[in-house]
Amino acid sequence: MSRDLVGPPPALWDPVVRVSHWVIAGAVAANALFTKGGGALHVWLGWIGMAFLAIRLVWGLVGPWEARFAAFPPRPIDALSHLNRLARRRRREFRSHNPAGAMMIYALWLSLGIVIATGIVMTKGATPWDVARQQEAVAAGDWSALVDDSADSTGSAGAEAEGGHWVQDLHEIGANLLLVLAVLHLGGVLAESLVLRRNIVRPMLFGTRR
Ligand code: HEM
Ligand code: HEM
Repeated sequence: MSRDLVGPPPALWDPVVRVSHWVIAGAVAANALFTKGGGALHVWLGWIGMAFLAIRLVWGLVGPWEARFAAFPPRPIDALSHLNRLARRRRREFRSHNPAGAMMIYALWLSLGIVIATGIVMTKGATPWDVARQQEAVAAGDWSALVDDSADSTGSAGAEAEGGHWVQDLHEIGANLLLVLAVLHLGGVLAESLVLRRNIVRPMLFGTRR
């Protein structure tokens, strides 16, 4: 492992990392657990998550050192040895995300990308405004909005007709995977906090480490 990845972590993550983290976490949790799949709010939150993910990914190239992909490269072997160290309660500080956290972060981003992409395919790229308008029209009894080519943009019927079942399945599998990964992520955050004997959530919120 490159020595320059090891060292004191940031006392406080920069605002782009922090804001994108909590917006994405909130959007994922709300969409996976509370909103109506394909509803206007669901699509809104999905698009907001997509916007913040895009910003964060650009930040991974141009942001401060700790936020860059180069500071937390995906290295499965290093991830395993970090987990091994954690299990033995051996402390090791990293200047950015630790190698196990890094693998988890790439897995979360990949799953999120799959969920967003399949969501966009199902809605045929309809914007949240389009979706809201169509739903309002349908609620007012005007079903014509659902008869044209963008017919199925708020639902699954068209996708099914086009053999798009698998897109819907992939969306659901991706959403469930995201939830499982998020729970494991929380377990990792807790374990790391216990072993390092400090709350690593604070720098991701707004406080400093002290
Ligand atoms: C933020 C991440 C997202 C999560 C966690 C998520 C999660 C879910 C879940 C759990 C369902 C219900 C699946 C089912 O029971 O059939 C669903 C359905 C749906 N989602 Fe998402 N979603 C996300 C983003 C998006 C985006 C960005 C779009 C569109 C732009 C979208 C469009 C849809 C549609 C159209 C359905 C209805 C599918 C059907 O007819 O069964 N989702 N989503
Ligand atoms: C669905 C929910 C969640 C998702 C998708 C998620 C995703 C992520 C991602 C992508 C990162 C990397 C941040 C970056 O560099 O941009 C991260 C880091 C982090 N997350 Fe989450 N997160 C979720 C929930 C939570 C919750 C509920 C907590 C705390 C209670 C939390 C605590 C943290 C911490 C402390 C880090 C930084 C770890 C470190 O110091 O290396 N996350 N999370």
